[in-house]
Amino acid sequence: MMEIRMSAMWCWMSILLLLLTLSNGVEVNGRQKRPLLVNLGDSNSDTGGVLAGTGLPIGLPNGITFFHRGTGRLGDGRLIIDFFCEHLKLNYLSPYLDSLSPNFTSGVNFAVSGATLLPKFVPFALSVQVRQFIHFKNRSLELLSLGSRDLINEEGFRSALYMIDIGQNDLLLALYASNITYGPVAQKIPSFLEEIRLAVQTVYQYGGRKFWIHNTGPLGCQPKELALHPHKSSDLDRVGCLRVHNRVAKSFNKGLRILSENLRSVFKDAVIVYVDVYSVKYSLSANPEKYGFKNPFAACCGRGAPYFYDRNATCGQPGYSICSNVSQSIVWDGVHYTEAANRVVATRIQSGQYSTPKFKLEKFWN
Ligand SMILES: *[C@@H]1O[C@H](CO)[C@@H](O)[C@H](O)[C@H]1NC(C)=O
Ligand SMILES: *[C@@H]1O[C@H](CO)[C@@H](O)[C@H](O)[C@H]1NC(C)=O
Ligand SMILES: *[C@@H]1O[C@H](CO)[C@@H](O)[C@H](O)[C@H]1NC(C)=O
Ligand SMILES: *[C@@H]1O[C@H](CO)[C@@H](O)[C@H](O)[C@H]1NC(C)=O
Ligand SMILES: *[C@@H]1O[C@H](CO)[C@@H](O)[C@H](O)[C@H]1NC(C)=O
Repeated sequence: MMEIRMSAMWCWMSILLLLLTLSNGVEVNGRQKRPLLVNLGDSNSDTGGVLAGTGLPIGLPNGITFFHRGTGRLGDGRLIIDFFCEHLKLNYLSPYLDSLSPNFTSGVNFAVSGATLLPKFVPFALSVQVRQFIHFKNRSLELLSLGSRDLINEEGFRSALYMIDIGQNDLLLALYASNITYGPVAQKIPSFLEEIRLAVQTVYQYGGRKFWIHNTGPLGCQPKELALHPHKSSDLDRVGCLRVHNRVAKSFNKGLRILSENLRSVFKDAVIVYVDVYSVKYSLSANPEKYGFKNPFAACCGRGAPYFYDRNATCGQPGYSICSNVSQSIVWDGVHYTEAANRVVATRIQSGQYSTPKFKLEKFWN
């Protein structure tokens, strides 16, 4: 008798749970802890934000390798974040700014090419992306309560992974402003990092508990920087990258690693992972053959020896051409990495071996 009553009760509870689940839209991304990504950043992870937000035509040859059309991504194909989505069996992320049938069931992308940390409040600085996120969350919950489907619910926002990949534009602008000297840039780095601290703090206040923070790449290995800044061989490191650029990047990264540690000690119930993208990208430039690449300092889309970067004929502008085999190039247009390079970087960093603490990407939902 007792057993029957118990099982009847369980049955009712299951039905109740199921109803609750359905009414909240939880079935999409709630109790099952389906992976969800919320991304903030710049061109490294822009899946169409700058195109949707500014209308700047980023068409072919961008996209030639994979999408076969301009998606707004700067590169010949998929970005690191696209490979993450494939790894997690998610759709590619729709940009927040996409007004034409976006699909936010896999998450949302606030990244916009050219985005900086400072100045604040300019489109589309990190602080603006964070405010867009607050609006997005508020509006999603409001619409769900009115019966909309396929949106992220409270549980989804809580279990989502918040990714941040930004800083390179601030560092480069500061370098240009200082005639490529280390000191003045180093002075600005704490103010850049403060913006990332504020972003994590705000997302945390709005329920985020999982963070994945990319450091910045070896800016001094970019064909564009090598082409635009006349240099002597003593300005280059043993691999052939500009020393000052990389010193600035490493200084930013050291600060970011320490910031991540501090944030971990403040937000004890959060997982905050610092990801050393720099080391992976640097090893591509240092040992290109090991990964099937050639001429690490020559872009694939552009013009002119030896870096194949010419500000008068940048990728897509009159006079450019494309190298014969894109998959042998690390860098696409002088700045952004090729799909082939992004694939290597994504595979390595999602494994967790470049993370502090060591943390596999998929482990966030296990
Ligand atoms: C969005 O993507 C999900 C997962 O692929 C799919 O189930 C859903 O139907 C899509 N929604 C719309 C409105 O296309
Ligand atoms: C969304 O914002 C409105 C107006 O600021 C506020 O009244 C409401 O409580 C917010 N809703 C949620 C779910 O945060
Ligand atoms: C910038 O630095 C270069 C190389 O150190 C130097 O030749 C040049 O005069 C500097 N330019 C300015 C405007 O200070
Ligand atoms: C780019 O164009 C400008 C103006 O036409 C010219 O002065 C400059 O020499 C060109 N630079 C290169 C690298 O061709
Ligand atoms: C392009 O390069 C890749 C990697 O080295 C190689 O596997 C492929 O066969 C090359 N394709 C062509 C058309 O040469």
